Amino acid sequence: MSSRQSSTAQWPVAIILIHWVMAAALALMLLGGFAMTRAAHHAETTGDFSLTVLGLPLFDAFQLHKSMGVVLFAAVLLRLLVRAIVATPELPTHMPPLERRAARAAQIGLYALMFSMPITGWLLASSSTLGLPTVVFGLFELPHPIGPDATREALFATLHWAGAWALTGLAGLHTAAALKHHFIDRDNILSEMLPLLNHIKRRTDHVEKT
Ligand code: HEM
Repeated sequence: MSSRQSSTAQWPVAIILIHWVMAAALALMLLGGFAMTRAAHHAETTGDFSLTVLGLPLFDAFQLHKSMGVVLFAAVLLRLLVRAIVATPELPTHMPPLERRAARAAQIGLYALMFSMPITGWLLASSSTLGLPTVVFGLFELPHPIGPDATREALFATLHWAGAWALTGLAGLHTAAALKHHFIDRDNILSEMLPLLNHIKRRTDHVEKT
């Protein structure tokens, strides 16, 4: 058993925090990303650029999306670093081998997508024929590694779109599996990542005993 995989290990607080903050931010990126792209295509076809996304004008919505994507890229690197150096809990022994393999594959897929989405987004923004800058939270301009080109733009838009749907699907499966473990298998997988649940369970047990 490697040092970072002890069956008695708890999730480090840093990982729990990064997990829930990233989950909320990714949900916003997916919903906001699909909404702003639809709004942009509508604006291009109708010439009506007055549409807003989550209350923001289109240009600001794109800048916010790109800025949050840059922060999420830093967050996934930090998360991988923390995971590489600290002990984390193992999957429960009652899990059948096929389910274990599926859980590992989904985890690798999620990390691969969290890592690659900001990169395809950055290459897409760089190759956009609109030639708009990427200004991170209005603070500094992120350099674009490649110049505008319609063919490359179409390629990276397709990769970014496909990655977004793959991430939506895998995140959905991941959530469904966590709920199955909690409500059907009744193991600790979800409560280890959500210490509030353990707290509520302990309080309930205490009340039932008294
Ligand atoms: C984890 C990070 C990211 C997620 C989950 C994400 C998600 C999405 C989604 C769901 C869409 C809509 C796709 C479609 O309907 O075609 C989108 C579009 C877009 N994203 Fe991201 N994105 C991320 C990071 C980035 C970054 C870092 C940038 C740029 C620096 C970026 C730039 C764009 C652009 C320019 C579009 C518009 C695509 C178009 O007009 O066809 N994204 N993103």
